[in-house]
Amino acid sequence: MSESTVMFEQVHIGGIAIHNRFIRSATHEGMADANGAPLESLEKLYVRLARGGVGAIVTGYAGVLPQGRSNFPGMLMIHDDALVPAYRKLADAVHREGAPLILQIAHCGRQTRSVATGMSTVAPSPIRDRFYSEEVPRELTEEGIREIIDAFVRAAERAQAAGFDGVQLHMAHGYLLAQFLSGNSNRRSDRWGGTLENRFRIVSEIMAGIRKSVGDYPVLAKINGFDGMPGGMRPGEAVQIARMLETAGCSAVEISSGTIGEGLSIMRGPKLPMEAVLEANYKFASIPKVFRPVMSRMLPMFVPASPEPLCGYNLAAAMAVRQAVSIPVIVVGGLHTLDDASKAVVDGSADFVSMSRPFIIEPTIVNRFREGKQAASRCTMCNYCTIMIEKEPLRCWNGRLPQGR
Ligand SMILES: Cc1cc2nc3c(=O)[nH]c(=O)nc-3n(C[C@H](O)[C@H](O)[C@H](O)COP(=O)(O)O)c2cc1C
Repeated sequence: MSESTVMFEQVHIGGIAIHNRFIRSATHEGMADANGAPLESLEKLYVRLARGGVGAIVTGYAGVLPQGRSNFPGMLMIHDDALVPAYRKLADAVHREGAPLILQIAHCGRQTRSVATGMSTVAPSPIRDRFYSEEVPRELTEEGIREIIDAFVRAAERAQAAGFDGVQLHMAHGYLLAQFLSGNSNRRSDRWGGTLENRFRIVSEIMAGIRKSVGDYPVLAKINGFDGMPGGMRPGEAVQIARMLETAGCSAVEISSGTIGEGLSIMRGPKLPMEAVLEANYKFASIPKVFRPVMSRMLPMFVPASPEPLCGYNLAAAMAVRQAVSIPVIVVGGLHTLDDASKAVVDGSADFVSMSRPFIIEPTIVNRFREGKQAASRCTMCNYCTIMIEKEPLRCWNGRLPQGR
């Protein structure tokens, strides 16, 4: 078998048949209404992705509680039974095109702003996130943690009722579950902090709750292989977390890395998209436009650029996890060519490759790979998409804002 044909085999995750080894990694679309229900534009996007040959689609993150809602507009929400019919329509439309649909469920914790949620931000420990806000989050009480566990379980029940093929717990990128797992953000000395077992407890209770409530409904998890934060995840912790997930009944684990506070380390790129930062980031958007040229020259001196390498930066962590577990492993991060994706699978780093930015510029890229029309994504990693979602729905900006902005 040639290296690239391996990508087009049918494989399974927790009983879900997946037509090939390419997965659309969760990508916030900003295409939900004020209640968090998916808009028509989201259905159109997913139908395009499904027709374009993707093996499975993971949705953008969906909030399990209003308190954990993103400050980016148009976030999906799954906190209320009343949302189920709208999601049922979305899932039916995607299934008609033959692609499985997985709902990513999340709580932002301290990575949001109280102006967006209308309530104070919460976290395992009262430590401010330097990117998201000036606010010091409220330390969660035992009761607050229980409420969040219950909200994740209820979210999985709603996802099943709406016809999703499974859910994915967002445990990466510095969101609430990652805040519990990382020693950098979790300084608790009770049973929710300290040892890795304690830091993982919130996840194990969510998993147990979901298993009790919806049986063997597929639950995937997206985790950080490393988080790059001082005092954060230690080498080997991702492997232990993946093992604990497997024991808890997780169906597959996706390996990513980084936190938003570190700059563009999750979705790396050759340079900071200063024009987009000054247009959309809440810290700069109110600064008069005349100061933008000078600010765009100065800011790169203070804001960290992407770490190197820009491609395949989670492969080593994925390989370490894959050697330790028997559930499928998905790897994401700068794997934008058919060759790189095939190598990741053939070399044994992962069973699946997921991509985010390539599907923004070309939703049909998997068919184009399969038909030999293209061997690499046209994405230049300009990261305007990443920054502009703070203001507008997802799209490819191709490295510049329209004139007149
Ligand atoms: C615009 C944008 C939105 C994203 N939203 C999410 C999200 O909702 N949940 C998530 O787990 N990752 C999110 N990510 C991260 C991607 O899933 C992926 O991990 C990262 O972009 C690296 O993969 P890539 O090089 O294929 O883009 C987002 C990335 C981008 C560019």
